[in-house]
Amino acid sequence: MAKSRVQFVCQNCGTVHARWAGKCDGCGEWNTLVEEGSDGGIGSGPGSMRSARKGRSVALTTLSGEIEEAPRIVSGIGELDRATGGGFVRGSALLVGGDPGIGKSTLLTQAAAALAMAGHRVVYVSGEEAVAQIRLRAQRVNAASAPVELAAETNVEDILATIADGKRPDLVILDSVQTLWTDAADSAPGTVTQVRASAQKMIRYAKSTGAAVVLVGHVTKEGQIAGPRVVEHMVDGVLYFEGEGGHHFRILRAVKNRFGPTDEIGVFEMSDKGLREVANPSELFLGERAAKAPGAAVFAGMEGTRPVLVEIQTLVAPSPLGTPRRSVIGWDGARLSMVLAVLETHCGVRFGSHDVYLNVAGGYRISEPAADLAVAAALVSSLTGLALPADSVYFGEISLSGAVRPVAHAQQRLKEAEKLGFGQAVIPAGSEEAVASQAISIFQPAILADLVVRIAGSKPD
Ligand code: TYD
Ligand code: MG
Repeated sequence: MAKSRVQFVCQNCGTVHARWAGKCDGCGEWNTLVEEGSDGGIGSGPGSMRSARKGRSVALTTLSGEIEEAPRIVSGIGELDRATGGGFVRGSALLVGGDPGIGKSTLLTQAAAALAMAGHRVVYVSGEEAVAQIRLRAQRVNAASAPVELAAETNVEDILATIADGKRPDLVILDSVQTLWTDAADSAPGTVTQVRASAQKMIRYAKSTGAAVVLVGHVTKEGQIAGPRVVEHMVDGVLYFEGEGGHHFRILRAVKNRFGPTDEIGVFEMSDKGLREVANPSELFLGERAAKAPGAAVFAGMEGTRPVLVEIQTLVAPSPLGTPRRSVIGWDGARLSMVLAVLETHCGVRFGSHDVYLNVAGGYRISEPAADLAVAAALVSSLTGLALPADSVYFGEISLSGAVRPVAHAQQRLKEAEKLGFGQAVIPAGSEEAVASQAISIFQPAILADLVVRIAGSKPD
């Protein structure tokens, strides 16, 4: 038998090194290598210790054939079901990641309670908190009376033995995957090898019994699931629970889903009685808007199939620095530089001696290029000190040539704006069929300079 070899595994990305080093080659992180035994590590699958056996042939099949809808367990919490693509899928494993304290345990406690109330067998295993703490939370979110089966345990074999008793559970929640350990791997609990081996066992359990398994994972500051990032590719779905510090709303975002769409979000508000669903996010993000201030523009965005209106705030201030500052929160810094360059080159608007700050209101994050036009409008407004009309929305992509490009879902964006009482919209040309049906007055600049002229020509009040 081969001697058990020592190896060093990066706790951030899972890269295996033969020798210790201060910095991981895989992800560039420092001080993340930890010594682990190679048993149960990477490269040792089932039977890797046995002598090679002769393979068994499996039946090959075709791409077409009988397809069954993924059987789902619907929680009844609309925003959660939306993010999972219609409910938890039986026999699948789902990873819910998020910063510590963001509300993962709260969300899953509420989901567990809702499902248990609906007659499903739900098992909640916590490796982080004592039973008393979980009960306290359940009381707080008004879920204490739900027949959820609760355990504080971290060993996978014990957990599996526990849930093997009685009827097969419909949903098993493991909070968190970082605390799990299995006898099959001999590394210390919390190491990548343990997390991976434990997750693998639980995933195998899900596939073989048809129970839905939810793994909770903590995310590091950089937005990576620390350690359990290696779990991401093994599970069927990954949801991130996000929120900005100081803001009370939370967004549940699907980043991987083998059974549904990945561009859906669920929006919640953290209250003193747990998470509350927010069915209309636009109202939340626009809630704190001051009526008329230079530098603010409302962007009509899309999250999956749902329109979301958010305010983009900019401040352009004279800079005392040789290299002016560009500071962005909630958007892509490189795109801001691009919009600034287009404004300078094609519209004659100079930002060279100004600091530029951009913030998306409410701590929301925009990932769409469609926000370009709203950003440009806000920047020009801040620089000139001329407030944009308070009842106007903006969307459109800006190309490097200064042209305003059409974006998808124009009609839905306009509908949402109309619903929320907006009377004007600045949108790209070429969305004619969307425009025809609207009661909103529309301005369609072909090039960005048209919009700049319009803003600069507006009357100050
Ligand atoms: P928690 O679900 O424990 O976070 P995680 O599991 O992601 O680490 O949530 C903890 C935070 O949520 C904590 O700071 C308190 C707050 N909270 C509320 O504001 N209201 C509530 O009803 C509950 C249960 C928690
Ligand atoms: Mg927790």
